[in-house]
Amino acid sequence: MFSAENLLLYLFALLVMQPCFSIDSITVNQTLKDGESLISPGKFFELGFFSPGSSSSRYIGVWYHNFPEKYVVWVANRDAPITNSSGVLAVDKTGQLVLFYSENPQVIIWSSNISLSGANNNSAKLLDTGNLVLFKNTFSGKNILWEGFDHPTDTHLPTMKFGWNKKTKRDTFFTSWKSPDDPGMGEYSYRFIINGSVPQLFIYDGSRPYMRMGPWNGITYSGLPEYSVDSVNEVSKVYYIDNEEEVSTYYTISDPTYITRSVVDDKGIAQRLNWNAELQKWKSSWEGPDGNCDKYATCGAFSTCNSLRVADQGCVCLPGYVNKFTGELSSTSFDGCVRKTRALVCRNGEGFKKVSGVKVPDTVNAQLEPSLGIKACRDLCLKNCSCTAYAAASITEDVGCLTWYGELVDVRQFSQGGQDLYLRVDHHELAEDSKKRILKVLLPVVFTVVLILGITCWLLRKMRKRERINRNLELSNGSEKDDIAYMERYSDVNASKEAGTTSAEVHCFSSSTIIAATENFSVTNKLGEGGFGTVYKGRMRGGQDIAVKRLSITSKQGLEEFRNEIILIAKLQHRNLVRLLGYCIQQENMLIYEYLPNRGLDCFIFGKSELNWRTRFDITMGIARGMIYLHHDSRLRIIHRDLKASNVLLDASMNPKISDFGMARIFGNEQNGDTTNRVVGTYGYMSPEYAMEGHFSIKSDVFSFGVLLLEIISGRRNSSTFDAENSVNLIGHVWDRWLEGKPLEIVDPSLGESYEVSEVLRCIHTALLCVQESAAIRPTMSEAASMLCNERTPPSTPEQPAFVNRARGNIGPVNLSFFYETEGTTVSDDTVGITEGR
Ligand SMILES: *[C@@H]1O[C@H](CO)[C@@H](O)[C@H](O)[C@H]1NC(C)=O
Ligand SMILES: *[C@@H]1O[C@H](CO)[C@@H](O)[C@H](O)[C@H]1NC(C)=O
Ligand SMILES: *[C@@H]1O[C@H](CO)[C@@H](O)[C@H](O)[C@H]1NC(C)=O
Ligand SMILES: *[C@@H]1O[C@H](CO)[C@@H](O)[C@H](O)[C@H]1NC(C)=O
Ligand SMILES: *[C@@H]1O[C@H](CO)[C@@H](O)[C@H](O)[C@H]1NC(C)=O
Ligand SMILES: *[C@@H]1O[C@H](CO)[C@@H](O)[C@H](O)[C@H]1NC(C)=O
Repeated sequence: MFSAENLLLYLFALLVMQPCFSIDSITVNQTLKDGESLISPGKFFELGFFSPGSSSSRYIGVWYHNFPEKYVVWVANRDAPITNSSGVLAVDKTGQLVLFYSENPQVIIWSSNISLSGANNNSAKLLDTGNLVLFKNTFSGKNILWEGFDHPTDTHLPTMKFGWNKKTKRDTFFTSWKSPDDPGMGEYSYRFIINGSVPQLFIYDGSRPYMRMGPWNGITYSGLPEYSVDSVNEVSKVYYIDNEEEVSTYYTISDPTYITRSVVDDKGIAQRLNWNAELQKWKSSWEGPDGNCDKYATCGAFSTCNSLRVADQGCVCLPGYVNKFTGELSSTSFDGCVRKTRALVCRNGEGFKKVSGVKVPDTVNAQLEPSLGIKACRDLCLKNCSCTAYAAASITEDVGCLTWYGELVDVRQFSQGGQDLYLRVDHHELAEDSKKRILKVLLPVVFTVVLILGITCWLLRKMRKRERINRNLELSNGSEKDDIAYMERYSDVNASKEAGTTSAEVHCFSSSTIIAATENFSVTNKLGEGGFGTVYKGRMRGGQDIAVKRLSITSKQGLEEFRNEIILIAKLQHRNLVRLLGYCIQQENMLIYEYLPNRGLDCFIFGKSELNWRTRFDITMGIARGMIYLHHDSRLRIIHRDLKASNVLLDASMNPKISDFGMARIFGNEQNGDTTNRVVGTYGYMSPEYAMEGHFSIKSDVFSFGVLLLEIISGRRNSSTFDAENSVNLIGHVWDRWLEGKPLEIVDPSLGESYEVSEVLRCIHTALLCVQESAAIRPTMSEAASMLCNERTPPSTPEQPAFVNRARGNIGPVNLSFFYETEGTTVSDDTVGITEGR
């Protein structure tokens, strides 16, 4: 019983148990029992007994060695399961690979079933490709008698060739498992169909085509454009063989550590799976059928399927064709298309229309002319009236012509890759096509030209603007360090009380300095709204305070004003003008001024005021000096155009400083004024000729000064209502009191009696002269200033001011002499007549 042979087998079995020693082959008289396995030399694959899924049946299979799960790539006895664990795989005396129950070696459950005679010293070996081979004597390619790769199951491994053997008429193809629990031959097959003149790759569902990968095009199969564009292609290469012997295909992997397989599962889904070692997972790089469009002839004849299209399951008729159901009420199902017109497409001016990026139609009714070029192909198709389309058979070679006769089925549109199909269309369709082509060519050209012109104009304008600014400012991009240094110099100059002699330097601040100084324009730092922008207080790192005017970006005119203001103020140096320290034109336009702690004059004179008359007078004189400087004493003549209480800022020692030059206009010394279409300024301060006709001059500033002076005296705004009955403004109110001979009634009550009457009267008189209706008879700023400080009575009597033309009875002559009793002079007895309806 215990023969030497059994002992040998026993010892052999012991060897198999050794974990560090594995075998890759069995030879004659050797067996492989359930629980034992062969491992390929490189330890890639393992062969042994397994039970799929929840099944208890045993199968001989090949799977990846040392993987977290058993991914079976090949099954020997897929349709002949072993019911218990007594199965034995062996190479028998004749050299046949056989599977049997150990209790009953005579009954062969499965075998390699090759014809053999006599005794053969054959061996079976598992290769690193996953292929189980049976060979005679020593292993070499020549000695192989049988191989598992010739009997594939559901998995296509690299180097595994399958196809049609023309000589033996043997078809090698993949078939799905019946279910995950049963590796038996299932419903779906992945195969070559040699029907018609061109072999095509298909997935069949039983005997029906399920998905068509189509004919080989030189790089890939027409229905698998992914293989020509996918990155998998970098390591994977597909081969197609079509010679006298066979039509077959296989693929290779250039990197042996790259683990990949193609599988067709029991649902008919084919997948290319690549192992991701990091995630320990299979990643699919291709899957088919992928949606409705991959399913064979899903849209019927003469249609194409576009998976990006939502309607009609993605179906669209090919050019020149219309839905077969058009005209019928219900067209919920798409079942192919018919020719649009009945016009003959036979020697009737017809031609071809190119449809790009498609899977070519089923070649079952196509003809292949391997030696014809694409031009000859066209001619061939054009000649035969039943030819419906043509295409190049190869996208790599210049020759190879496919022509279709009759219906075109199973065309689909790819978003990437795909081939060109030339469709036979009638002359109507052709004409439309050429129209579209012309538009297609012309539109982009026109569009491009317009775009280029637009950009050029815009750039030129921008450049010119830049140049202008640069010329005026000698722009430099400031840095925060520069900013601080500049501010230090500035405060040093101020400290040494030489403010009047500072250079006309205007500094370009960096926006980061400004943002830091204003705490990113925080609300608490907001000082107020100026012309065209908001003013913020800022504190530099060096401790100096600044006022930042942030120009509103929305205002198109604001930019113009901004530039204007910089140019202007840079040239102005006067103790009664607010000093511009610099500007910032990164991202936003900003002006940086010296910070004046006391804000605007309006805060001091309107409402409850603590300003005594002396201060008010000094402020008035300061404003006057500033205005004189603007009008006469600077090298230029500047008309401010927006003089008002809120634009007069007060410094710590209550010196007035005129600010906000956003609307100022600059003139040569000879010119006194101009006319504008754009009247800007503040109502109540605007002279009538400016407000109504847009004419502005130094005299319109004088008018504003007059109004401001009246406000300083009365502590009331010109715009506020004084007399409910007559609804007059401040000017009217003062004029009335003047005419009534009671001008002192207008004086701010908060001053009480503490003012010099003659001085106040002189001021009122001067103010009224300044606000006279007629610009010509208003004094100049220097005349007004000398009137104010001269102890003498102003030389002329004010005429009717502007904006007081109310319905009123005639007023008798007014004797003004009493005003100036102290001087002992008389005012001329000019009557002041009020003309109606002026
Ligand atoms: C196999 O075993 C048989 C007898 O069981 C024997 O005749 C034959 O020589 C053996 N073959 C080899 C190669 O050992
Ligand atoms: C295994 O099944 C076979 C066939 O049904 C049978 O001949 C054999 O005795 C069984 N072996 C065991 C151990 O059950
Ligand atoms: C073995 O092959 C022959 C033809 O060579 C065939 O008739 C027979 O059915 C096959 N047997 C099995 C079990 O596949
Ligand atoms: C059978 O083949 C194996 C190698 O495949 C070899 O080692 C052995 O010597 C051979 N036996 C005979 C009897 O030829
Ligand atoms: C081959 O094509 C013909 C029609 O051209 C069809 O009847 C036949 O079923 C096809 N065969 C296969 C295997 O698809
Ligand atoms: C057109 O081609 C078809 C298919 O190849 C062929 O049967 C038919 O004879 C051809 N007709 C002409 C006019 O060449």
